[in-house]
Amino acid sequence: MKVAVLGAAGGIGQALSLLLKNSLPAGSELALYDVAPVVPGVAVDLSHIPTAVDVKGFGKEDLDAALNGCDIVLIPAGMPRKPGMDRADLFNVNASIVQTLAEGIVKNCPKAMVGVITNPVNGTVPIVAEVFKKAGTYDPARVFGVTTLDVIRAETFIAELKGLNVNDVKVPVIGGHSGTTILPLLSQVEGASFSDEEVAALTKRIQNAGTEVVEAKAGGGSATLSMGAAAARFCLSLVKGMQGEDVVEYAYVEGNGEDAQFFAQPVRLGKNGVEELLSYGELSAFEQQAKEDMLGTLNKDIQEGIDFMNK
Ligand SMILES: NC(=O)c1ccc[n+]([C@@H]2O[C@H](COP(=O)([O-])OP(=O)(O)OC[C@H]3O[C@@H](n4cnc5c(N)ncnc54)[C@H](O)[C@@H]3O)[C@@H](O)[C@H]2O)c1
Repeated sequence: MKVAVLGAAGGIGQALSLLLKNSLPAGSELALYDVAPVVPGVAVDLSHIPTAVDVKGFGKEDLDAALNGCDIVLIPAGMPRKPGMDRADLFNVNASIVQTLAEGIVKNCPKAMVGVITNPVNGTVPIVAEVFKKAGTYDPARVFGVTTLDVIRAETFIAELKGLNVNDVKVPVIGGHSGTTILPLLSQVEGASFSDEEVAALTKRIQNAGTEVVEAKAGGGSATLSMGAAAARFCLSLVKGMQGEDVVEYAYVEGNGEDAQFFAQPVRLGKNGVEELLSYGELSAFEQQAKEDMLGTLNKDIQEGIDFMNK
C-alpha cells in the first residue's frame, strides 16, 4: 500500500501522518507532500519511529514523485477557518489548491482512492470529480469527502451525555460537511433514546462542533488532532476494505442522486472503493424536515464546485 498525504506539514497532515506511520500495514509506504519547506523534516522525524512503514518527504516541486504509484491519496492541504469564518469562506483559497493536487493525481495515479479533507468539503469533492471527468478517468467509487469527524464527534458527545461506553456508540451522520448540511440520525442510535429537546440540542452541537474548536483555538486554526484521528480511521477502513474485509463507513460520495449529486451516506468499502451504496434507512419527522431544509444549501455548495471547474 502506498499512501500519500498532500498537505502533510500542516496541523491535520502531521497528526494524520503520525497515526498512519503507527498503524498502516507493515511494508506500506507513506509519501508526505507539502509546499512548506519543513516537510522533509517532518518525514525524517517520523522515520525515527520504529514501525515497518517507510516514510519519505516531498517538497513543492516533487508532487509527481510523491504521487507516483499511490493506492490512496489523502488531501488535507489548504487554509483552515479562523473565528467568524464559515467553511464556505475558504472556497476561494482552497478550490485552486485542490484542483492542482487533483490534476497531479490524474496524471500520476488515476486509479488511486482519493480522500478529500480540505474544506469546504461540500464543494471541494465536486472539484476533484470534475478534474477526473475532464481527463476521462472519473470513477465515483474512488472519490470520497472525509466526513468521519462528524461521526466521531457525534459518538463522543452521545456517550458523554448518556454515560455510555464510547466504543459501543454508533451514530449515522448523513448529508454534507458544513453547518446544517451535517445531519446526525439520532433516531437510529442503538441503546440510547433522546427527548425532543436533546435531539435539537445534540444535532446543533454536532453541526457546530468545528466552531467550538475554532473559537477555543482563538485564531490558531481549526480541528487538527481529532481530524487527524478521523482521517486515519477512514484511511485504515479503506485499507481493510481494499484488502477484502467487510467494512462500512459514512462518507460524502457521488451516489444515486436521490437527495443530491454528492451526499454523505453509508458505503461498503472494497478493493475498488465504494463496493455498495447503502441505504441510510428511515428518518424521524425531525430528521426528514432537517434534510429537506438543508438540501438547498448543499446543492448550492456542490454547484459552486462544479462551476469553479467550468468557468
Ligand atoms: N473534513 C474535515 O472534517 C475537516 C476538519 C478540519 C479541517 N479541515 C480542513 O483541512 C484543511 C487543512 O487544515 P489544517 O488545520 O491542517 O491547516 P494548516 O494550515 O495547519 O495546514 C495546511 C497545510 O497545507 C499546505 N498547503 C497549502 N497549499 C498547498 C498545496 N498547494 N499543496 C500542498 N500543500 C499545501 C500548507 O503548507 C500547510 O502545511 C483546511 O481546509 C481545513 O478547513 C477539514
